[in-house]
This record gives sequence, C-alpha cells and structure tokens, in this order.
Amino acid sequence: MARDWTPDSWKAHEARHLPVYEDAAALAEVEGVLANYPPLVFAGEARALKADLADVASGKAFLLQGGDCAESFAEFHPNNIRDTFRVILQMAVVMTFAGKLPVVKVGRMAGQFAKPRSSDTETQDGVTLPSYFGDNVNGIEFDPDIRRNDPQRMVRAYSQAAATLNLLRAFAGGGYANLRQVHQWTLDFMGRSPWADKFGEISNRISEALDFMEACGVDPRTVPQLQGTSFYTSHEALLLPYEQAMTRRDSLTGDWYDTSAHMVWIGDRTRFPGSAHIEFCRGIGNPLGMKCGPSLEPDALLRLLDTLNPGREAGRITLISRFGHDKVEAGLPALVRAVKREGHPVVWSCDPMHGNVIKADSGYKTRPFDRILAEVRGFFAVHRAEGTHAGGIHVEMTGQDVTECVGGAVAITDEALGDRYHTHCDPRLNAAQSLELAFLIAEMLNLEAKETRAAA
Ligand code: PEP
Ligand code: CO
Repeated sequence: MARDWTPDSWKAHEARHLPVYEDAAALAEVEGVLANYPPLVFAGEARALKADLADVASGKAFLLQGGDCAESFAEFHPNNIRDTFRVILQMAVVMTFAGKLPVVKVGRMAGQFAKPRSSDTETQDGVTLPSYFGDNVNGIEFDPDIRRNDPQRMVRAYSQAAATLNLLRAFAGGGYANLRQVHQWTLDFMGRSPWADKFGEISNRISEALDFMEACGVDPRTVPQLQGTSFYTSHEALLLPYEQAMTRRDSLTGDWYDTSAHMVWIGDRTRFPGSAHIEFCRGIGNPLGMKCGPSLEPDALLRLLDTLNPGREAGRITLISRFGHDKVEAGLPALVRAVKREGHPVVWSCDPMHGNVIKADSGYKTRPFDRILAEVRGFFAVHRAEGTHAGGIHVEMTGQDVTECVGGAVAITDEALGDRYHTHCDPRLNAAQSLELAFLIAEMLNLEAKETRAAA
C-alpha cells in the first residue's frame, strides 16, 4: 500500500482543472451522499483487469479502450450504450483474429464525464462565462445559471454511470456478446462499406474459423466463453472530490480502490510532477492509465512511474501516447527506450485522437481520419523499431452515425460536419470509421504476429 497516503492527501497538492464550488457545504453534503452509495465496481474486478493488462504488457494480449470523449446527460439512452458496446466488440473480434491475441476491452463509458479545458472561460458575442467542464460539473448551454458549478450533478452522474454499467454487464454476460452474432454484425456492415473488398478477406476468414470451430463442436451453445465476454469501464480521474467519495477500502485485502470504474487515467494536463491527480492515483489499487504527450520528458516519466508503481507491478500502468501524427515518430522512441532501460513493465497504448485536432473551415473542431491512421501507423513503427509491444489503442468513438471526424471510406466532408455533430467535447469516430480503423489495425497486428512467429 502507498505510504503517507489517504484518500484526501491530494488536497495538499497543486490541483489543476478542478472546479471551484461556491457553496462548500453543498459540496460536502454531496460527498457524504456519494460516500454512502454502493461501489460501482468491486476491487476484485479491478484486479482481474490488472491481470489482463499484465498480459498486454508482456505481449500476450492487446488493449482496446474506447468510448465518448465526454458522456452527457442529454445523450444518455440505452441505444447509445448498446451501439457503442457493439462496435467495440466488433472491433475486438477483427483485432483478435488478425493479431492472434486476446483483446482486453475497456470502455470510456459509465463515468467519463469531467473534462479538462484549455481555458477557464469562454466568450461568445462579448459575454464571458465559465467554460463547460463536463456534465458532472456544469452544463454545456451558454447560460450563466447552467454554466455554474453544481455539486448535485455528481449524484446524477453516479446514477447514470450505475445504470450504464448495469446494462453493459447485462450485455456482456447475457448473450448479446455472442461471438457469432458479433461477427454477423460486421458482415452486415461489410455489405454496405466501400471497402468491402479490401476487408472482405479478413471477414471471410473469420467466418471460416467460426464454421470450423462449430464443426468441431466448439460453439456458443457448448462453450460459455463464446456467449459472453469481459468488459471493463474507465474514465479520466479528473474530478477528485467525486473520485475520493467513491474510494473504499477493499474488505478482502485492506487496500484502497477507486470504485467508480475498473481503470482510471491521468490526463496530459494533470500528470505534472507533484500534481494532486498523481497523488490521488498513487494510493488506489486500480490499474492506471497516464497520457503521454509531446511535453513529457523521459526523466519526468521515469519519476512518475516510480511514484505510481514503485513495486513495478505488471498491469498497473498503461502509458497512453498522444503525440500527433507528425510528432509520434520523433517523440515516442525516447520514452519507450527510457522505460525499457529501467525495466518498468508498462502497457504502451496509442491515443491517435488528442494530438490530431484541427479546426475545419466550417468552424467545427474535427480530426482527419488520415491523421488518426497515420499516428497509429507511426506508433506501430516505433514499437517495431524498438522491439517493444504495440499494446493497445485508445479512441474516442461512438456507435452512432455521427459526422464529427472528417474522412474515412464513406468520406465525411468538411461541409457535412454540421449534419450530425453531437459530441459534448471532442469529435468522435462514428461506427463505420471505428470499424475501418479496426481493420487497418488488424493489418498491422497481422504483420506483428507473423514477425513474432518467424522469430520464434
Ligand atoms: C481525453 O482523453 O479526453 C483528454 C482530455 O485527453 P488528454 O489528457 O490526452 O488531452
Ligand atoms: Co477528448
């Protein structure tokens, strides 16, 4: 257990991107309410994820983490949860088949509300209001009352997270995640995709593999693993009063866990040495992610790893690089080398979203699909050159047919961005773009798998 740590020891550290609440008593009341609510996850589940991530760290599995940039109260609907879950499963099947590796599935779901913002305020037509910090802090409408920080929003976020997680658990274990069914959805999608020929071969080979397994008596009716799947949740541990209220001592081990999600991560803006967010995260037993952007120096990274994972436990840390398509090949190798040299067992995952945001001529914030893909390719190239495992991918995506990122096979144009631009924060890949990305990653994983087999 971390030394000199308590669930509130972060309060003595520098906290950036935390909301200030006008009414301290109202905040304390909400914290008390949340502290008495049931945990959303059990510590044993967080340990199971850590064990799965240890397999990723040692090259035996691949991590797929995806979901909304910001979940919102407005988009809370069972169909949205179902469709995002479905696309994550489809991506995972394609990647499992190509990489010949199990895929660990983690949603940016059931708790991904709070957002760090580059500016504390936003000005429209000469009026300046506080920025939108996520639905668990304030509302997105540009109105002074709605932009006011309201601690009661944390209670609503908790209940939305609980209901979301409940449905995800039901889908994962109740038959919706049946392997045959998941693949059938991909075949249906292929029928409509302009890239059907390009990806048809992989899909057909998956179909053949399933037919072969069935002929051998291995099918979802006889093998329960094919009926269901493990699915974990995650979010950025940004809103520390909420995370602290959800932190409980595990009755089995006596260790502290943040029971708001299986995994939490530290954002690129809050991972500076001495930060309140680092202090909070070092004391919880959950697997941790940490975003690594261009400003992170190798020495600082090593110090952070010593703080967050002094016992060097595999599966504890996932480093999520987010350099940008034009910076990854120059910036990532130094970090990879330093971590390898010091023998820190980490998962290397690629977030190809946050370094590739541009403002389109139409005024919308967007991410060109080509740049997202280029960053993923650069990430794989760096790991191939360094002899390390390109362990995972972290994407902002949705199962809905939104028009937020430009490009893709069914090319979303700049002019079309306004058609279905629904995100509460950053632009997400839509269902088709997500699946295309999975097929393109599958090609890279296939290459890695062939090289590994050749070297064995
Ligand atoms: C995010 O993941 O939504 C985010 C804000 O990313 P980063 O911390 O990498 O900027
Ligand atoms: Co984002």
